[in-house]
Amino acid sequence: MAAAAALTPATPLRFKPYSTLRFLSFYSKNPTSPRLCPPLPRRPVPFHSTFHRNRCFCSVISAALQSGEMKKTEFPEKKVGEMGNKVGEFRKKVKIADIKGGPDEGLNRVGQTLVVMGWVRTLRVQSSVTFLEVNDGSSLSNMQCVMNSDAEGYDQVESGLISTGASIWVQGTLVASQGSKQKVELKVEKVVLVGKSDPSYPIQKKRVSREFLRSKAHLRPRTNTFGAVARVRNALAYATHKFFQENGFVWISSPIITASDCEGAGEQFCVTTLIPSSREAADSPVNAIPNTKDGLIDWSQDFFGKPAFLTVSGQLNAETYATALTDVYTFGPTFRAENSNTSRHLAEFWMIEPELAFADLNDDMACATAYLQYVVRHVLDNCKEDMEFFNTWIEKGVIDRLNDVAEKDFVQLTYTDAIELLLKANKKFEFPVQWGCDLQSEHERYITEQAFNGCPVIIRDYPKEIKAFYMRENEDGKTVAAMDMLVPRVGELIGGSQREERLDYLENRLDELKLNKESYWWYLDLRRYGSVPHAGFGLGFERLVQFATGVENIRDAIPFPRTPGSAEF
Ligand code: 4AD
Ligand code: MG
Repeated sequence: MAAAAALTPATPLRFKPYSTLRFLSFYSKNPTSPRLCPPLPRRPVPFHSTFHRNRCFCSVISAALQSGEMKKTEFPEKKVGEMGNKVGEFRKKVKIADIKGGPDEGLNRVGQTLVVMGWVRTLRVQSSVTFLEVNDGSSLSNMQCVMNSDAEGYDQVESGLISTGASIWVQGTLVASQGSKQKVELKVEKVVLVGKSDPSYPIQKKRVSREFLRSKAHLRPRTNTFGAVARVRNALAYATHKFFQENGFVWISSPIITASDCEGAGEQFCVTTLIPSSREAADSPVNAIPNTKDGLIDWSQDFFGKPAFLTVSGQLNAETYATALTDVYTFGPTFRAENSNTSRHLAEFWMIEPELAFADLNDDMACATAYLQYVVRHVLDNCKEDMEFFNTWIEKGVIDRLNDVAEKDFVQLTYTDAIELLLKANKKFEFPVQWGCDLQSEHERYITEQAFNGCPVIIRDYPKEIKAFYMRENEDGKTVAAMDMLVPRVGELIGGSQREERLDYLENRLDELKLNKESYWWYLDLRRYGSVPHAGFGLGFERLVQFATGVENIRDAIPFPRTPGSAEF
């Protein structure tokens, strides 16, 4: 115990004063002071994964490209250098976002001959002119393509070959638009059908429910909502790496297959080869699973020689690297076999888990706050068109809500105070409230949505009985240095804690919870060799996407949701 006390930080650690300095810089409300989130360059940086794509997607197209037009599809800036950007040789395509994403929404390119490749969203044939709305996913905006009957390839429109859902290649001159919806449109000179779309195409113009679209998860990214969610999700992932990289964290790939249960909640999916998985073995009998003479499964014959599972959290592995590299984070898929059919639970979700060494719970909360404010600001600054869309169609007021999150201080209160607040609330809860109970979603939402008017709330110092084994015991012996960040609409967005760095405390806790100490041998070693106070948190990435976009159901915040009874696609 004496040794334990020696390790106990008497005052919060390195983040005072260093951490305060480090994290206060994020809170700056003065727009002229240096921010951690400099605006991105106006044009998207060319990405590096397209160079290997096979461009000969069909002979018609390759013929069109070989006939010389391809040159015209290249970035005119390459020749004129008007935007001062060097575009990689691999990037031949001009995207709709490149054309319309600038400050004058494309007017600077009027007169240029451009090629757009994408999917037909709608097609309106009028007596003298045909309008094709083409989208390539680079932005919410379509390119309005205006066509007369003298355009090359017009017969394919006339015959119905080019229809909603078809993929096309269109070349034309960019002109100022007569319509009020866009500044520019493409006056088509030539259209080529790349892939026709069967009349059964389910994503027609009429609005369809999100439930219906979940059953078409392979085609739903072609809708406005899911295209926008995908782009905002991408921006959040980018901002996540940017935040941690700019603050000296090292990204660690934690394993997906593991033999330890981080949360100790027994909600893991088993990974085994004892159950035959190949086609040939499909009719193998139940008793083919090897067992011991006591009638138990003989795990020694399994692939890993012992039971193995999909990870519920990368935290324990992150701790090993934090106690060597100081500040690390993981960002990867995690899996939970909890049978929760709610709008906030997935069986497979992505988690961001920073782990900070020489840090306590205050540092952890400061980091979580700074992180959330940073990524929210990034999305507001860089996904304006998509955010306007969510503000109009998904959650009215989402932009104001996020602006508040990025600017205002978060509320902090202890679990004990939160219970008192709930007991005093003039509201009947389905789950009764008393000290020691786990907070339910209805309680969490009441606290953040009603009691604190939409402000994120961090609750700390939970009873140890309702929290995981690795959390550091507080001096009262009843609570642990845990924190949950609650946000409106979602409830718990972040769960974190200071870790128990005292070997004797940790061993006692494992014993109390009847967890197998031997299987945590390497985790205990971290406390044996150069133990340090450390802390971290986990943020459910899909809950963050829900929070940032306003989409109500978590199944719409991930491309292919996995939930009880559903693993299609
Ligand atoms: O609170 P949790 O269970 O904490 C941990 O796993 C810690 N090991 C994290 C850490 O300290 N490194 O999960 C963290 C977050 C939750 O706050 C929630 O946002 C999300 O993960 N989460 C889920 N998201 C979607 N579906 C589920 N089934 C989730 N379970 C947790
Ligand atoms: Mg939690």
